[in-house]
Amino acid sequence: MATQIDLKDRVAVITGGARGIGYAAAARMLHSGAVAVLWDMDAARLAEAKAELAPLGTVTTDVVELTDEVSVAAAANAVAGRHGRIDILVNNAGITGGNAKTWELEPAVWRKVIDVNLIAPFLVCHAVVPKMLTNGYGRIINIASVAGKEGNPNASHYSASKAGLIGLTKSLGKELRNPTSWRTASRQLPPKPTFFTR
Ligand SMILES: NC(=O)c1ccc[n+]([C@@H]2O[C@H](COP(=O)([O-])OP(=O)(O)OC[C@H]3O[C@@H](n4cnc5c(N)ncnc54)[C@H](O)[C@@H]3O)[C@@H](O)[C@H]2O)c1
Repeated sequence: MATQIDLKDRVAVITGGARGIGYAAAARMLHSGAVAVLWDMDAARLAEAKAELAPLGTVTTDVVELTDEVSVAAAANAVAGRHGRIDILVNNAGITGGNAKTWELEPAVWRKVIDVNLIAPFLVCHAVVPKMLTNGYGRIINIASVAGKEGNPNASHYSASKAGLIGLTKSLGKELRNPTSWRTASRQLPPKPTFFTR
């Protein structure tokens, strides 16, 4: 695939990278020269994905339960140990939680969707952003949904989780646009701390 984006030797962590959009994002990163690090809870599919993507470049994997802060922190440290840094983060993993009217959704299902789609991206940012700050470089892409902007009927849990993720993205983007964040972490400013969040 022709590419104009040079990500040579950048280290990209993609959550939910074992299948779907995360898998496609990993392939795209590899085509652009990045090292792709797939995080997923599905160990079997993770191994298959690694074998499939390996011809495109360097692929490593971690079995991670993204709603568990201990698991996420351990994975972030493992990547830092293996590759020296994390340059790019794609917070992609998400679940729908099924479709039903708000008053028909089980509270446990509602909580689970918020946990996976909102709390988990927070936990991943919490573990990864300090490493980006220390290294003076970082790019974060959070995969939301139009449901988070519009509020889809029969998906209040999913819509609320994605609206929350959009809010998290905006807050984090503003925090990281502040050069003081970078200076405090690394004791020196990167040339241009342009932190893209979507
Ligand atoms: N597919 C769509 O049409 C669509 C549309 C809008 C937004 N999105 C968003 O795009 C993202 C990816 O969607 P997809 O359809 O490719 O998903 P998918 O179901 O195909 O893949 C999600 C991956 O995330 C992993 N995962 C889920 N929960 C996890 C957890 N707690 N810990 C670790 N791994 C976990 C799964 O094992 C799976 O491999 C989601 O955030 C989704 O909300 C998808």
